[in-house]
Amino acid sequence: MEQRHVPVALPRVLELLTPVLLTPGDQETVMVDATTGLGGHSAAVLQRFPNAQVVGLDRDPQAVAAATERLGGFKDRARVVHARYDQMSEVLDDLHIDRVDAVLFDLGVSSMQIDEPDRGFAYSRTAPLDMRMDTDAELTADEVLNTYSQSDLARVLWEYGEERFARRIAREIVARRPLRTSDDLVAAVEAGVPAAARRKGHPAKRTFQAIRIEVNGELASLAAALPQALRRLRPGGRIVVLSYHSLEDKMVKQALRRGAEHSAPAGLPVIPADSRPWLRLITRGSEVASEQEIAVNPRARSVRIRAAEKLREAS
Ligand SMILES: C[S@@+](CC[C@H](N)C(=O)[O-])C[C@H]1O[C@@H](n2cnc3c(N)ncnc32)[C@H](O)[C@@H]1O
Repeated sequence: MEQRHVPVALPRVLELLTPVLLTPGDQETVMVDATTGLGGHSAAVLQRFPNAQVVGLDRDPQAVAAATERLGGFKDRARVVHARYDQMSEVLDDLHIDRVDAVLFDLGVSSMQIDEPDRGFAYSRTAPLDMRMDTDAELTADEVLNTYSQSDLARVLWEYGEERFARRIAREIVARRPLRTSDDLVAAVEAGVPAAARRKGHPAKRTFQAIRIEVNGELASLAAALPQALRRLRPGGRIVVLSYHSLEDKMVKQALRRGAEHSAPAGLPVIPADSRPWLRLITRGSEVASEQEIAVNPRARSVRIRAAEKLREAS
C-alpha cells in the first residue's frame, strides 16, 4: 500500500503560525517554507490562511518538481524555488520581498528521498552511495567513504551520528575500499559494531545519518540560514523550526536564546534599550510530538519543535 506523506506536527505548526498568517480583510502575508519538500506544510498553510503567500525553497530538484505540482492549484500564492535555505536572502531579494511574516524549517530528509531507491539514503535498500539532497552538488557519499582519512571518517561518525563505535567502523570502511553500494556500507558497519553491543534499531542507522549530514553540509547550511531567517522576519513575525537531530536542535536553541536574552554586561542597574531581548520564545524548551501522532507517523518520534516571535529589529 502506498504510504501517504503526513507533514509532521501539522496542527501545532498551524497553531503557531495563526497569529501572524490569519489576517483580516485582504491583508496579505508571506511565509518562507525553507524546506518545502513535498509541499505538505506549504499546502496546509495556503489552505488554512487565505491571505498567505508561500515562498517554498528546497535544494532537491525532485522535491521542487513535486512541490511545484502540488502547489500549482494555489496559482501565484505559491512560488517554489530550487535553492538552499542559506540562500534565502538572495531568493527574497530576487523576488523583491524585504520582510516576511513567518519562516518555517522542517529539517532533514523527506520521505520521498528515503523511499527513492537510487539515492542511497536508506540502509535497507541496495543503492549507489550517493546521499546528495541536491543532485547537482559535487560531493557524494561515495567520495566521502572512499577518500576521507580514517580519522576524518571517525570524526564524522562520532560527531554527526553519536556513534560509539565510530573508530572501529571507520577502520572497517577504510579496509574495505572501494565501497560501491549501500550494502557495502552496511557490511562495514556490521563488522565494526560488536553484536553484543547492538542497541535498538538497525546498527547502520547512525552511520547513514552521519554520512548524509556530511555529504550535504547540513549543519553549516543551517548555521548560515538561521540569522538570515531572523533578519528577514518583520517585527511581530514568527519562526518555527522542526529538528530531528540533537546538533540541529542545539543550534536552533542557541540562535533563539541569543535573541531572547538581554545582551547588557552583568550588574547594570538598567538594561539599555538596545540590549533588551529582540526575540520572545513561544515554546518552553522544545516541544515533542504527541503519542497519537507518533503512532501514525513514526517520523514524528524524534521531532523537536521550537518557535519564537521577533519583537523588534536586532541592534
Ligand atoms: C522533512 S523534508 C520537508 C517536508 C515538508 N515539510 C513537507 O511537508 O512536505 C525536508 C526537506 O528539506 C530539504 N532540505 C534539506 N536541507 C536543505 C537546505 N539546506 N536547503 C533547502 N532545502 C533543504 C530536503 O531536500 C527535504 O526535501
